[in-house]
Amino acid sequence: MHVITFFNHAGGAAKTSTALNVGYSLSRRGHRVLLIDADPQANLTRWVGLDVPTGSDAKLHTLYSAVLGATDTLALPAPVVAHGMDVIRSCLDLAEVEPLLPGQVMGQLRLRSAIRKIEGKYDFVLIDPPPSLGQLSTLAVLAADELVVPVPAGNKGLEGLEGVTRMVATFRQVAVPTLRIALMVPTRVSNTNLSRDSVEALRGSGIAPISDAVTERPSLYPNSQLQGLPVALYDPRNPAVAELEAVTDQLLAQLETGRHGAAK
Ligand SMILES: Nc1ncnc2c1ncn2[C@@H]1O[C@H](COP(=O)(O)OP(=O)(O)O)[C@@H](O)[C@H]1O
Ligand SMILES: [Mg+2]
Repeated sequence: MHVITFFNHAGGAAKTSTALNVGYSLSRRGHRVLLIDADPQANLTRWVGLDVPTGSDAKLHTLYSAVLGATDTLALPAPVVAHGMDVIRSCLDLAEVEPLLPGQVMGQLRLRSAIRKIEGKYDFVLIDPPPSLGQLSTLAVLAADELVVPVPAGNKGLEGLEGVTRMVATFRQVAVPTLRIALMVPTRVSNTNLSRDSVEALRGSGIAPISDAVTERPSLYPNSQLQGLPVALYDPRNPAVAELEAVTDQLLAQLETGRHGAAK
């Protein structure tokens, strides 16, 4: 079972988009996929077309149950199925984790423990954290063995990267020595010099393996999001689908390489 967090604290990096579309591709290939929405904004939950839990016990339908639920039964809630994938949804009240978690014994490792309890149930557990460096992001990163880092081309994409690598180094030292960046994905790549330069800089950085680029498609992604569909279901003939398939192929290849590396 691979537990992979899509990590980059920058907002709009295409974390949610990449997690969901790669997750769908893995699921279409016959893998058992669990998506965990760890962002109180619940973008992933909506993007797969699910209702955001409401009411006074809404947060008990989220990963909250695994980290701050009843102490003797800390566990993930039952998932909901969307497009062939299992999904642990999110809602705004999940934000209560931020102030409450630091007071808990081994709080930041509780999602990791809860996921280990379902070892073998899935081939891939993909976690989508919020665009910040708070408790929920920490929980999400510490739950993973591998990270995928979506990097938006242009703007401040590469500046933010330094923060990502620093954080990964710290987590490796203090909690998960085997944590590694399996793949960096250049996202939102357009046909401009700035965009090309930033993909080149990423390739030259030597931080981690880099996948093929995912192109900026200003109507496709937001529209598929509004319809609650993975891109491959919203517009199967769109060239974006082949790009996302390539990223999935490259992720699988890197995971395989990592496995051999670990066996040595
Ligand atoms: N390749 C892309 N081209 C155009 N828009 C994109 C692309 N990828 C994501 N988006 C849009 O950009 C916004 C941010 O993407 P999202 O995946 O939610 O980023 P994050 O989770 O890192 O904040 C969303 O509205 C999404 O529809
Ligand atoms: Mg997101």
